[in-house]
Amino acid sequence: MKIMMIVGARPNFMKAAPILAAIAAHNQKLTKTATGEKLVCTLVHTGQHYDARMSDAFFSDLQMPHPDVFLGAGSGSHAVQTAEIMRRFEEVVLRENPDVVVVVGDVNSTLACALVTAKIVLPGGQARPLIAHVEAGLRSFDRAMPEEINRVLTDHLCDLLFVTEESGLRNLEREGVPQERVFFVGNTMIDSLLKYKDQADASPALDRLGLRVPAEKGKPAQIKPYALLTLHRPANVDDPATFQEILAGLDELMSSHPVVFPAHPRTQKQIEQCGLQSYFAGDTKADGSASHVAPSAGILMTGPQGYLDFLCLMKNARLVVTDSGGIQEETTCLGVPCVTVRENTERPVTVECGTNLLAGVAQGGIRESIARQLEARPGQQAPYLWDGRAAERIVEILARPLTAKEGAPDKILPSAIVR
Ligand code: UD1
Repeated sequence: MKIMMIVGARPNFMKAAPILAAIAAHNQKLTKTATGEKLVCTLVHTGQHYDARMSDAFFSDLQMPHPDVFLGAGSGSHAVQTAEIMRRFEEVVLRENPDVVVVVGDVNSTLACALVTAKIVLPGGQARPLIAHVEAGLRSFDRAMPEEINRVLTDHLCDLLFVTEESGLRNLEREGVPQERVFFVGNTMIDSLLKYKDQADASPALDRLGLRVPAEKGKPAQIKPYALLTLHRPANVDDPATFQEILAGLDELMSSHPVVFPAHPRTQKQIEQCGLQSYFAGDTKADGSASHVAPSAGILMTGPQGYLDFLCLMKNARLVVTDSGGIQEETTCLGVPCVTVRENTERPVTVECGTNLLAGVAQGGIRESIARQLEARPGQQAPYLWDGRAAERIVEILARPLTAKEGAPDKILPSAIVR
C-alpha cells in the first residue's frame, strides 16, 4: 500500500514524525512475521515553511527522513499560497497515484493537499486515493481564524478522521460526519513530546540564555525562574494596536521575570514595521548565544528555536504565554502553567485539565491571568489516549486491507475498519 504523507509548516513536523516512525516499525515487524502488507511511504514537503530554523532544524531534531518530494511553494497571501501548493501537488498525485494521502493539523498545506486529492481525476476513471486527516474535529468556532476554515473544510473532504480529544468526536458528530470514518486515536504531537522530553535536557538553550546558575561552593546548578513567550497569530501581531495591547498586558511579568521570546518570522517583521523594537532586548538573528543573555527582567527576543531547544525552554519555564495551538497541549502534558492570549481555543481539554487559562487579548485580562497562573502548581496531566501511542494506532488502521479501489469514495473505505 502506498501512503503519501504531507508536511508543510513547522507545527506539522512533530505530528508527522511519529507516523513515519510507526510505518517503519510496521514494515520491520512484517519482515519478521512475513504476514500483512508493506506500507510504502512517500514524504511530501510543500515548502510552506522554508527557513532552516522553521523547517530543516525539525527534520534533524525529530530524526525524520529527507522529503522525497519538495514542492517549494513558499509564502504568499492565503489564496496564492494555497493555490501554489495545489497546482504543484496535483502533478505529484497524478505521477505517484498513492492509495492514501495523509494530512496533519490545520495549516494551508493541509487543506490544499486534501482538496487536490478529493477532486483528482485519474486516468482510466480509477478511484481517487483515500484522504486521512490527523488532528481532526478540533473547532474554535471562530471563522475569522484561517486555521478554522482549514479544519472544517479538511474534515469534510476526508475519508478517515483521526481525533485527538473528545471534543473532536462531538464536533464531528454535530456536523454530520459519518461515524464510521472517525477514530479516536490520541495525539501524535504528544507522541513526539514523550519521546523527546528527556533528550531535551541535553539542550544548551538554558546555558546560552544565561538561565542556568552554575553549581558553586557545594550548591547544585539552578535554573532561574523565567517565562516563555510566543506570539505569531495574524489576529494578534498584524494589527499594531492589538500587538501593543498584548505587550502592555505583559508589563508586570516582564518586571518580575526574564521573558524569553523566540519570535516567528511573521512577528519579527511586524515588530520592525510597527517600530516596537524598544520593547525587546536580544537579536533575532542569534539563537540566544552567550552575548544575548537574558536580563533579570524584560523580554529577550531570539530567533525561532529548534524542537529540542524549545522543548527544553518549555519544560523548565515557570509560565508559558502563547497564542499557539500546539503549545497549549504540550504544556498540559508537561504540567507547566499556560496563559493563552486568545479569546477561544479549539483544544478545550487543555483548559479542563487546569494547565491552560484563556486570557483574551485585553491587557487587564492578560495581566490577571498571568498573576493567577504564577500562583498555580498544576500537576502533569495526560488527557485520554495522550500516551505516546497515537501514531501506532493510526498506522494499525491504515494497514487494514482496502476494498477494491472502485466506485464512490464511500465505497472505498477500508472494508475491515470498525471503530
Ligand atoms: C502557519 C499556519 C499556522 C501555524 C504557523 C506556525 C496557516 C494558515 N497558518 O502560519 O496555523 O501556527 O504556521 O508557524 O497555514 N515566513 C518566513 N519563513 C518561513 C515561513 C514563513 O519568513 O519559513 C514568513 C513569510 O514571510 C510569511 C509569514 O512568515 O509571510 C507567515 O508564514 P505563513 O506560512 O503564511 O503562515 P504562518 O504565520 O507561519
